[in-house]
Amino acid sequence: MTEPSPARHTPRVFSGVQPTGNLTLGNYLGAVRNFVALQEDDSVERLYCVVDMHAITQPFKPAELSGAIRQLTAAFLASGLDPAKSILFNQSRVTAHAELGWIFNCVSRLGWLNRMTQFKDKAGKNRENASAGLYVYPNLMAADILVYRATHVPVGDDQKQHLELTRDIAAKFNNDFGVPDFFPQPEPLIPPESARIMSLRDGTAKMSKSDPSDNSRINLSDTADAIAQKIRKAKTDPEPLPSETAGLTDRPEARNLVGIYAALAGTSADAVLTEFGGRGFGDFKPALADLTVEKIAPIGEEIRRLSADPGHIDTVLADGATRAAALARPIMDEVYETLGMVGGGTA
Ligand code: TRP
Repeated sequence: MTEPSPARHTPRVFSGVQPTGNLTLGNYLGAVRNFVALQEDDSVERLYCVVDMHAITQPFKPAELSGAIRQLTAAFLASGLDPAKSILFNQSRVTAHAELGWIFNCVSRLGWLNRMTQFKDKAGKNRENASAGLYVYPNLMAADILVYRATHVPVGDDQKQHLELTRDIAAKFNNDFGVPDFFPQPEPLIPPESARIMSLRDGTAKMSKSDPSDNSRINLSDTADAIAQKIRKAKTDPEPLPSETAGLTDRPEARNLVGIYAALAGTSADAVLTEFGGRGFGDFKPALADLTVEKIAPIGEEIRRLSADPGHIDTVLADGATRAAALARPIMDEVYETLGMVGGGTA
């Protein structure tokens, strides 16, 4: 099935981010910047969700969760998401996600879940001790998307497999219950230059908000000084930059820094090497530091400004949840009706 059941479903964008730690430059370039770009198109509805129910699938501290939800919301706003153009909310507040998540637990197959590489990565060696929630995480993600009949999902390329599972769940629901086109086949929107942003300390590991070394990443909340210093300290090799991308093979740190420059400047790695090929990191790093500070430090300043007013953030989230619930409830009514559940979801 390649065509995303066209006629019946109006284009709608949904994406989610977990409130676990600071957003990094990698999250920004791989996802959030794309969320913002999608605001240009007036014809589609956009929902961007802080997925707090996904955040509890792994160990977490209740005392820290509310702060993390507000911090991520502040980062969304500071990055340019506008509540007048996008619905911003946290998942637990709209109960339809959990309702459809349960129903999808009964549609999805164990065999499908067993193939999910993110579960294997996150569960690690001690799989017997992983939560059942971590295992069915992809079913809840499918519910997040399909409870709005979203057709487009901007995500990083690590989420492709979960999107495929979402499509399988949608197709099985439609087929099993004899409701063709009930749910759309949502498409991932992966940024073209989704040059995966890697750790500044190890060009073979993804830049991660959970890496123990803060020098491995640039946080959106970092100050200009912190950003410049992390780039100055970033791991490199002794060779000058090559003049073509082929010369970056086997040079993961060099390739990562060139990729970051290209993504921030909105050009290609080739164009960056045309400018910097033959020059050493002593020239390149200061240019990269200036560019990163120019693009990212204002976001950090805005995060700090917004964080001083949690009341404002809470109002944004409450308002977003009301708007999201109004979209989801009629779809859930149809779901319960389709399944033959008398009065489902109405008490
Ligand atoms: N699993 C996603 C991630 O780890 C987060 C997520 C949860 C999500 N629900 C979603 C992304 C729905 C897109 C759509 O990044």
